[in-house]
Amino acid sequence: MRILVLGSGAREHAIVTALLRERTDDGSPVHEITAAPGNAGIAQDVATVKLDASNPSIVRDYARDYEVDLVVIGPEAPLVAGVADKLRAVGIPVFGPDRAAAQLEGSKAFAKRIMDAANVPTGRAVRATTIDEAVAAIDAFGAPYVVKADGLAAGKGVAVTADRRHAIDHATYWLQYAPVLVEEFLEGPEVSLFLLSDGQVVVPLSPAQDFKRVGDGDTGPNTGGMGAYSPLPWLDQLGLDGDFVDTVIDTIAQPTIRQLAAEGTPFIGLLYCGLIVTRTGVKVIEFNARFGDPETQVVLPRLETPLAALLHAAATGGLGRLPYPRFTTDTAVTVVLASEGYPEEPATGRTIFGLDEAAAVRGVTIAHAATARVDDRLVATGGRVLSVVATGADVHEARERAYEAIGRIRLEGAHYRTDIAAAADRS
Ligand code: AMP
Ligand code: GLY
Repeated sequence: MRILVLGSGAREHAIVTALLRERTDDGSPVHEITAAPGNAGIAQDVATVKLDASNPSIVRDYARDYEVDLVVIGPEAPLVAGVADKLRAVGIPVFGPDRAAAQLEGSKAFAKRIMDAANVPTGRAVRATTIDEAVAAIDAFGAPYVVKADGLAAGKGVAVTADRRHAIDHATYWLQYAPVLVEEFLEGPEVSLFLLSDGQVVVPLSPAQDFKRVGDGDTGPNTGGMGAYSPLPWLDQLGLDGDFVDTVIDTIAQPTIRQLAAEGTPFIGLLYCGLIVTRTGVKVIEFNARFGDPETQVVLPRLETPLAALLHAAATGGLGRLPYPRFTTDTAVTVVLASEGYPEEPATGRTIFGLDEAAAVRGVTIAHAATARVDDRLVATGGRVLSVVATGADVHEARERAYEAIGRIRLEGAHYRTDIAAAADRS
């Protein structure tokens, strides 16, 4: 297949790496892969093309001219811009929802409405358009308070706080721009589960956990994600009624997909379920309409089933005919290396050293995020620079390898969390 991958992060590097694992008998890649725009790491592995991945007409023209068999959309921005709609309109298979279905991520109010209609378990929420309504809801739910701006990318505009004053200030600030949602606080471990969907049927990948705060011990501001691991050995020990993945399919993913189809907005692509395992069951805190970053970097290395056929089947409507994807029993851990100042004001332009030494650690691969080549230097161009990914027989081995490798990388001022998967390692 000729595959075009849109995006430029470590998630897209992980997707490209997974697609490249499929080889012919003579060892050459089965698929012809191009990434747009990609980054310095992706460009080492496959062809890259500089085009605006969020411009629907440009992507459509490129895909048509180069007779692309499948377009895989990594980030949210092209979905919201309607890239998938444009490709589907000319019959090009695309893994990624239309703009209307992508609202499941972009509009928290839309997601809540779909969940209500489909009877999907989630926290109670009140949508407030005035500060009086917001304060009433804040006091009705009580501490800890959860206040979210509607219509924003994940992580931004979310306050989870024990401080009533802070909750009210947060609501006041965001109400200048849009309504806010005041939510019931859900207590329990967080799990990310990705499911492929062809609009009708869902197929699960393997559960992962993301570490969203910048600092060790879940301190400091929210980020795009500082690390992740998969699978989650403790899931089976929670004493859930039935298998975790089956529960999510039956009570959350399949009803959501069915509801979207019934409303004429079928969801074709990746349904990312952000979940909390509460004492009263598994509940949704958010949906995303794309692969998560950094969870993708730990889920895809464990995937044994060829990825391209799965994504193509989702894009063309044949997912129900395929067996469920298989995963190795290995554990994968990723630790994100971030620039000085991330997430507030990341330093850019600094040179990265030691990547070859890091990649030489057994079981380690390095997914690039914000990197570029300048002359013969590799430089950091943004906040999350690299995802160091390690697989091992268990959490302990994967962690040791990931930290051994990241310790060999040198980038002035860079920081990373030292406790990714640490609790799972101890238990
Ligand atoms: P979101 O942008 O909705 O994913 O929220 C960012 C983070 O805030 C989530 O990953 C959770 O850690 C936390 N969070 C969001 N909503 C809730 C909730 N209702 N209860 C507890 N924690 C939440
Ligand atoms: N890992 C969080 C996200 O991709 O939104």
